[in-house]
Order: sequence, then structure tokens, then C-alpha cells
Amino acid sequence: MSTEGPPGVHPAWLPSRATQPLGSRRTLVHGTGTLVDTVRREVAAAGAPETGEPALVLTLTSEDAAASWHVGEVGALGDEGYAIGRRDGVTVVLADRPAGLLYGFFHVVRRGEAAFTGEWPLARHVPAMPRRMLDHWDNVDTHPVTGQVERGYSGGSIFWRDGALRDLDRVRAYARLLAATGVNAIAVNNVNVHATEARLLTDRLGEVAAIAEAVRPYGIRVHLSVSFAAPVTLGGLPTADPLDEGVRAWWARTSQRVYEAIPDFGGYVVKADSEGQPGPFGYGRSHADGANALADALAPFGGVVHWRAFVYDHRQDWRDRSTDRARAAYDHFAPLDGQFRDNAILQVKHGPMDFQTREPVSPVVAAMPRTKVAVELQVTQEYTGQQRHAVYLGPMWSEILRFPLAEGADVAALARELVAVSSVGDDPFWTGHPLAQANLYAFGRLAWDPALDPLSILDEWIDLTLGPEVDRAALHAMLDESWRTYESYTAPLGVGFMVRPGHHYGPDVDGYEYTAWGTYHFADRDGVGVDRTRATGTGFTGQYPAPWSEVYESVERCPDELLLFFHHVPYGHVLHSGSTVIQHIYDTHFAGAERAVETRRLWERLDGQVAPDLFARVRERLDEQVRSAAEWRDQINTYFFRKSGVPDAKGRPIH
Ligand code: GCU
Repeated sequence: MSTEGPPGVHPAWLPSRATQPLGSRRTLVHGTGTLVDTVRREVAAAGAPETGEPALVLTLTSEDAAASWHVGEVGALGDEGYAIGRRDGVTVVLADRPAGLLYGFFHVVRRGEAAFTGEWPLARHVPAMPRRMLDHWDNVDTHPVTGQVERGYSGGSIFWRDGALRDLDRVRAYARLLAATGVNAIAVNNVNVHATEARLLTDRLGEVAAIAEAVRPYGIRVHLSVSFAAPVTLGGLPTADPLDEGVRAWWARTSQRVYEAIPDFGGYVVKADSEGQPGPFGYGRSHADGANALADALAPFGGVVHWRAFVYDHRQDWRDRSTDRARAAYDHFAPLDGQFRDNAILQVKHGPMDFQTREPVSPVVAAMPRTKVAVELQVTQEYTGQQRHAVYLGPMWSEILRFPLAEGADVAALARELVAVSSVGDDPFWTGHPLAQANLYAFGRLAWDPALDPLSILDEWIDLTLGPEVDRAALHAMLDESWRTYESYTAPLGVGFMVRPGHHYGPDVDGYEYTAWGTYHFADRDGVGVDRTRATGTGFTGQYPAPWSEVYESVERCPDELLLFFHHVPYGHVLHSGSTVIQHIYDTHFAGAERAVETRRLWERLDGQVAPDLFARVRERLDEQVRSAAEWRDQINTYFFRKSGVPDAKGRPIH
């Protein structure tokens, strides 16, 4: 096993340099199991010497070697937790189960030399969420409209090429990278399940089994997106009615075959009655009926169904002001609380709309206390610059996870799992924009521990990936505020969807204004924003628990950054910041586009400090970011100037 991964592929956060501190010291590994063997192979690949005094001991707590370490003091470590400490010149990692040992191993890698200095008592590390999952939106075939990876900005799929499974070396390297961040599950195919991909459940199952085999040594289980209509399209049945006995028997039989091929298969992901996908509504059944039918088929084998809550009317009449897409998930699902099986997980996008740059947290996360809710993030930057703009999303996700949505509980506490749409493709840098690797890294780390500081996570990524010697200050200056920078030159004050329809890149203020998608900003000559209040609007604010139902309802109390998400206000409305809405639009767009220029300038400081191909790739993306940010600035400012007739107080160029 090479530590650098397949040739021609960037090693990301696991270059051989990262395992050097460990590789120069004798390490003992005690225990048995596939994942313990993985740790042994890792230690050997790092080049650790086999003689001399051990500097690192990785041991299961059941082994004799653990006896002297007072494991009892740190309590049970569970399936994936570990404890790490250092005494008498020896660093120890203890775990109850093999997976914990693997995560403990990567903890040592992350700390580098610091893992071998000083003395510290055992500290316990257990994941906040039992499942930390990435959903790939990959297709086997290249889809004529959306390409091979839907919303993918990193080339083709790492799993399939030319309609067939690829060589899986790269998938193995991917699994290793993910394990180092704490991710333990992947769904391999697009939630929009096309005809070829539907067959991964049946006659193409061998391909899924091969992927499962490739990722298993890194503690990662494979899940599959399936079509709700599979009993009809694959099984030849006359119906996919979830309450039909024949349909239930088909799912049971099919799932049994899946588990015969993949004993540790994770389960199904389902997008039903959403954007044209089939679902239980077609048979007059509820989404609990639909989810439970699949959950029952998976239950005997310990599998789960991830049932997506992204259900809304995508054929809305834009003239109809009473229908509000933001309300849809709650309206459909909150009444079903308590009706889902234990192994059915409701997968809810973090905001009520669709992965916009700024949205409030989805009220569904707090509305279903008797349902297991997974919060879904988007690592792939569909609406945040498509990996052409340098946008570090750690601060956004951290803000979401720490948001105190319910009395005494933040989103991280309310969510049972964290899921995200993957950003990875067959690009040599994995993520198109090399700096976008930091997002993938941050997702896993935050899913393991949502309390981590996103800027410290960025530091970890920089250290591991680019080395401790690079100009860290320049990178922080480029990335720490980059999400807010992107927000400032694109979407002001919670307005979303001012993007080009279809591919969603670049500005088009009215692109979605008169469409069926339910994504409107309602700008006219007097004002802008969506009235979602109970008093005069769609009533969406009523879906929130106190105090948010009151905070968002009130134009005075609503935070500036969400004002236009909840309220329609005149351009002259004065924000908490003291600025008017229109002047805020102008100021943020001018400032944001300038910051893009500054970001590009900062990158020049890294010239000579990072590999030339990586340097060049980032530079090329920054050129595009600068161009695109100026385009956003000019289109948004011009649009709102023409609508409102209000000039920029500072007299800057508006066209
Ligand atoms: C967005 C995205 C689609 C995707 C959908 C989903 O609407 O543009 O490509 O299929 O989300 O999450 O299902």
C-alpha cells in the first residue's frame, strides 16, 4: 500500500509527509478485526520501524496491553470512539471496537509531532452523530442534461466511466481520505434515479458490492439511491403501492438479495414525489407509508432508509402568492411525526428552500421529536460558486449546527445524523478547486464534532495538505470570510435564486422570477423580498418554535441577513446596520467584488510554496472568480437601480 494514493491524483490531506512523525517511531497495534488490520497496514506503510522502544500503542481495550492505562476513567467508548493520552514517553490510543482504533490512528496523524510531545491524560473522543454520510449524485451514464455527476464540478464520477465500473484504486484512496475525517457512509448514486442506475439494485448489484468491498477496510458502508417505482420498472409489477402485499414482498426479496451480496449494506436513499420522481402520493399513500414499506424490507438485515423531505410543488403558478415553497417540507412531514419506523430517517435539507447561500434553518428539524432527522448539507457548491469561487463553507455549517432552534437544543443536538452531497469527481485534485478540498474535510470533522471551530479545522487542512510552512495567514485571509464574501456579491439579505436557471452559475436576477419553481424575490419599483409572515404573508414564520416564530415575524427583530427571506420591504427600509436596503445592496456588491480581487492577490503570496500545478489551478479559478464577482456586482446593482431609481449614495458606476 502506498501512502500517496494512485498516481496522478493529489494526496489531499494524507500526503506521505503527514504520516512521517508516526512513521519514524515504533508503533504497536493490538487487536483483531478488519479495521485493526487496516491500522496495521497504515502503520507499516508509514514506514514505522519494527524494533526499539515503542512510542505509540494502539490497542483495543479488551487486550492485555490496555490493562495499565486506567481505561475505566474515560468510560465506554462505543463502536467508534477512542481515548488518547500520553505517559512515560508513550502515546496510547484505546478503543472498545476496531473502528475506534482507526479513528484514533487518524487523530495521531492529524496531530503530527504534537502527538509525541509532553504528557497528557487520556481524553475521550466519540462522534456526535452515529452516521456521517456523503451522498454522491453520480450516474453510471452521462445524463444529457445534468452530465455524469449531477451538480458535479470536479469532472466525471470516481465510480463509473463509459457506462461501466472503473478501476477502484481511486475509490480506495477516497475511502481512506474520508475515514481520516470521520465519514462512515456513502450513498453511491444520484437521488434522481435514472433507468440504468435503477438497476444497481438488481442486475447491476455486483458493482455496488465491488464499491462496498473497496471502502469496507476504512469503516465505510455503502448506501444506494433507489427509485420508488422499482417494483414496476424493475419487478414488472402493476403497481408500486407501498401497502400492496406483492410490492412489499418484492422489496423484501430484493433487499434480501442485496444483503446476500453485501452483508454490511447500509440501506436506501429515496427522493420521492419530488421534482418528477415517483412516490407514494401517486397511490394515495402518505410518505410514512412509503418510507415504512422500504424500512420494513431493510429491518431484518439492520438496514435503514433515508427518506428525503425535499418534497414541494415544482409546477407552481408564479401568479399564485399563497403557495410558498419554504413551507412545503413542514406541511408535508410535520403531521407524520411518530409514524415513521425506527429505521426510517427523515433527511432534511438544512434550509427550507434549497441549499442557498443564506437561508434560515429548516423548521422541520425541530418539528418532529418522535422522528429521526438527518440534516443534509451540500459540499458540492451548486449555489456557492461551483468550485470556481473559493468559498470555505465550514463557518456556514458551523453556524447552522450551533443554531439554537429549539428550547435548549441546537441543530447539532436535534439532528441524529449529518449527511452532505459530495463534491468529489475524477478531477486530479478531487474537488476541481483545490481549496474546495477544505470543505470536504470540514464536513467530516464537523459531523464528528459539531462544536469544533471551523477555522481550526481549516488550519488542520492547511497543515496536512499544504504543509506547516505555507503562508497560513494568506490562506486564512482568503478563506475565513469567503462564504460571507460570496454572499455579499451575490445574494443580499436572504434573497435566493438570482442565478441562471438550469446550471445555476452566475447572475440572472429574474431568471427564476416567472417560473414554476416557487423561487421568487418579488422585486418591484418600491421594494423587494418575500412576505412570509403570519400577519400578511404566507405564514411560514408560524412553523418555527418560539422565540424564532416571533423574531422572524417581526420586521424590527428579524436579523438583517434574513430580512428579505421573511419580509417584503421598501428600498428605503433602514437595517439594524444603519444602512438602507438599497444602499446595503450597492455597498456589499462593490465591497464583495473588491474582496474577490484581494483574494486573488493574496494567493500570489503562495507562489513557490505549493506545487506548481496546484498553484496554477487555484490561480485560474481565482481569475474566474474575479470576473464572475464583477458580473454579479454589475448585474445586481444595475437591476436594483433600474427598479428603484435610487442612486448609489457614493456615486459609483452603475450601468
Ligand atoms: C436541487 C438540485 C437538483 C437536485 C435537487 C435535490 O434542486 O438543483 O439537481 O436533484 O436539489 O436535492 O434532489
